[in-house]
Amino acid sequence: MKVDVLLGLQWGDEGKGKVVDVLTPRYDVVARFQGGPNAGHTLEFEGKKYVLRSIPSGIFQHGQVNIIGNGVVLDPVLFREEAEALRQSGVDLTKVLKISKKAHLILPTHRLLDAANEAAKGAAKIGTTGKGIGPTYTDKTSRNGLRVGDTLMPDFAQRYEAAKQRHLRQMEALGTTNHSNLPELEKNWLEAVEYLRNYDLIDSEHYINNALKEGKKVLCEGAQGTMLDVDFGSYPFVTSSNTVSAGACTGLGVAPNKIGRVFGIFKAYCTRVGSGPFPTELFDETGKRMRDIGHEYGAVTGRERRCGWVDLVALKYAVMINGVTDLIMMKSDVLDDFDTIRACVAYKINGETVSELPFDIQSVDIEPVYVDLPGWKTPMNQLSDESALPKNFTDYIAFIEKELGVPVTILSVGPDREQTIVRKNF
Ligand code: GDP
Ligand code: IMO
Ligand code: MG
Repeated sequence: MKVDVLLGLQWGDEGKGKVVDVLTPRYDVVARFQGGPNAGHTLEFEGKKYVLRSIPSGIFQHGQVNIIGNGVVLDPVLFREEAEALRQSGVDLTKVLKISKKAHLILPTHRLLDAANEAAKGAAKIGTTGKGIGPTYTDKTSRNGLRVGDTLMPDFAQRYEAAKQRHLRQMEALGTTNHSNLPELEKNWLEAVEYLRNYDLIDSEHYINNALKEGKKVLCEGAQGTMLDVDFGSYPFVTSSNTVSAGACTGLGVAPNKIGRVFGIFKAYCTRVGSGPFPTELFDETGKRMRDIGHEYGAVTGRERRCGWVDLVALKYAVMINGVTDLIMMKSDVLDDFDTIRACVAYKINGETVSELPFDIQSVDIEPVYVDLPGWKTPMNQLSDESALPKNFTDYIAFIEKELGVPVTILSVGPDREQTIVRKNF
């Protein structure tokens, strides 16, 4: 058996949570492979809405095992908050969730360091989610991190203290010395670490590979998006993990030859939260309309999402890097009432037309080259079968498939689980 991977092709918030939930009944195991509580994955069904941050989006279906993989960074405090809120809604995670002992822990001082780093950058700040993601992955790669499994070791308290002292020295160097709330944060964090021990802490790489040997089906859930990948995204305005399909190999211990289908998710338009380049961003009424109709506000921070037309230069790059086998188009309904739909097919940089994503999209002026297509002017929220889709919409899909060379196999026409069209070519 092979694992399938589902990931974002843009700058995050493409709708990964919703589709993982829709596809979960086809799988036995759902596993997150990177990122942390910077993610906000929204699911809607039976009139209720849930936002998941560290917990995989397969927990609401029945019978699947959900795994937080080694590539994830976990904040015990936010995890406890999320798990307890779910328990209130009737989901007992202790039965369906397993956590890798190799996942790295986000410490209270990682969050403080995240804020201190951002303050030190001033106008050049990344606009992080403030969850301590960068400092935690930095400690991981500099071999200073603490892992979930370390909480079971006798020297955990000393190692925690050493990490904290190191972080305090780093913050002093950044000119941040007031940490009056740290004792309280720390107390809360240590209690949450105790709470973590109620869960099944496992060697998830063995668990997943054994599951594959037994013929079980595994879906790997990405967080963020390809343009936020630390290697291939719009660096330095990125997150600190590999969000691309290769991240599923390192983030779960799955060998490259065990990757099956790669589901690449994108919005029928494009959004971004935080700072950094966004070639097709709209600053006019059209962008505002996308934000209003699509409710484009961050699931974690509530920040306004920047909106613009779909960028096929960036998408083509994402399809290449990830080896996408299936495209999934989200939020098509948001464009239902637009007269014209634009798709960026190339960039004009210094008079030259560029169709491959270049190294620098930050310090140069980019003029997007658009192809205009007629809008479908039909409400699609209630449609459940592809035969009922308006022709101008299927023409838009066919245009994207031709440009990207990969079929669109699932369409989403609303936030609810039911508002999903699985096409015949799936
Ligand atoms: P994720 O981080 O990729 O899981 O995406 P988010 O949950 O951050 O953002 C996607 C938002 O769009 C959420 O509010 C979803 O409820 C909503 N959504 C998902 N699919 C659709 C869709 O097809 N149409 C509309 N209108 N909203 C959608
Ligand atoms: P999901 O999984 C959208 C963005 C932040 C910031 C940059 C770095 O819901 O799609 P970080 O806190 O990771 O150091 O911030 O990345 N970012 C996201 N944007 N969706 C996300 O996750 C994001 N996670 C991080 O806004 O620009
Ligand atoms: Mg999100």
